[in-house]
Amino acid sequence: MAPLLEVRNLTVSFPGSKQQSAQPTVAVRELSFSVDRGGVLGLVGESGSGKSLTALSILQLFPAGARASGEILYQGEAGTVDLLKLKGESLRRVRGSRISMIFQEPMTALNPVMRVGDQIAEAILAHHSIGKREAWRRAIEAMNEVAISEPEGRARSYPHQLSGGQRQRVMIAMAIANRPELIIADEPTTALDVTIQAQILELLDGLRQKLGMAMLFISHDLAVVSQVADRVAVMYAGSLVELGSKHDVFFAPAHPYTRGLKASVPTLRSERGVDLPAIPGMAPSAHAISPGCPFEPRCEWRVAECQRGLPPLVEVGAGHWARCPVINQK
Ligand SMILES: Nc1ncnc2c1ncn2[C@@H]1O[C@H](COP(=O)(O)OP(=O)(O)O)[C@@H](O)[C@H]1O
Ligand code: SF4
Ligand SMILES: [Mg+2]
Repeated sequence: MAPLLEVRNLTVSFPGSKQQSAQPTVAVRELSFSVDRGGVLGLVGESGSGKSLTALSILQLFPAGARASGEILYQGEAGTVDLLKLKGESLRRVRGSRISMIFQEPMTALNPVMRVGDQIAEAILAHHSIGKREAWRRAIEAMNEVAISEPEGRARSYPHQLSGGQRQRVMIAMAIANRPELIIADEPTTALDVTIQAQILELLDGLRQKLGMAMLFISHDLAVVSQVADRVAVMYAGSLVELGSKHDVFFAPAHPYTRGLKASVPTLRSERGVDLPAIPGMAPSAHAISPGCPFEPRCEWRVAECQRGLPPLVEVGAGHWARCPVINQK
């Protein structure tokens, strides 16, 4: 069965401004991955590795000046469509209805001068021919589903009157209200404290299972991704460097970068006061990416040919791929 979403060779670049006569900044480079119907793909990578641009590309929400190429194939009701080419009413129908997004900071995504119940109702009205009263009723129902207590009262609140965790619940209510097939959650818990983070992850996972939705779950935190995803894609400087089941990627990482990420995940056994190993060096900024392996400047296994071109993905096990032929020779 074809996957629900298949990203093929997605490249997102920012052409250099004329004054700087600069090279284009390539922020996402020939990225391919897929999300199965009802499945959860975790996308992990450091800040600046291109995760948000990838997510935004799926709904054509990229920032001004961005150029995207490749294909983003989606199995919609009317067959396969390329989301990168969708326009007008067809694009509007997919956004927030078939595919919805949850962002890191609900305060910037919510309208500060509109009651949260009205905002959820508006998201429902955008995709259904129903009256305002019925939309309000469904908004309360959605708030109930995300376990907001006293939803009738809270629906009349403005975003600033709610806690960070409640605001993120409102965003989730808005995202599920139209029963999408795919939820894109971009660092949905990064701004929250640890206890609330765990509650929100549990809520998302429960709703996903109950409603049979697929999810693209994005985080810089490999441990968080491994809690919710069934497959994990690792990005480094705009490129996919590893892809596999969460078990393979977390317990048997095959790319030097993922091994470094894994080593820096604290465990319950990590001793207090002992520094966790970190990967030496800095992630490159998008415009400084070399034509070779993006991880080459920080890699302790590098050899001369690593600078020659983007290394191929090597299949290191069934469904487990790593973009490093050097330590994965067959
Ligand atoms: N509006 C923009 N203009 C120019 N470059 C941008 C813009 N937005 C993002 N980028 C570039 O794309 C890279 C990846 O950004 P992003 O997808 O937000 O990373 P992540 O979500 O992984 O932290 C950034 O490091 C930056 O170089
Ligand atoms: S291809 Fe070379 S530089 Fe890149 S991760 Fe492998 S060994 Fe390191
Ligand atoms: Mg981001």
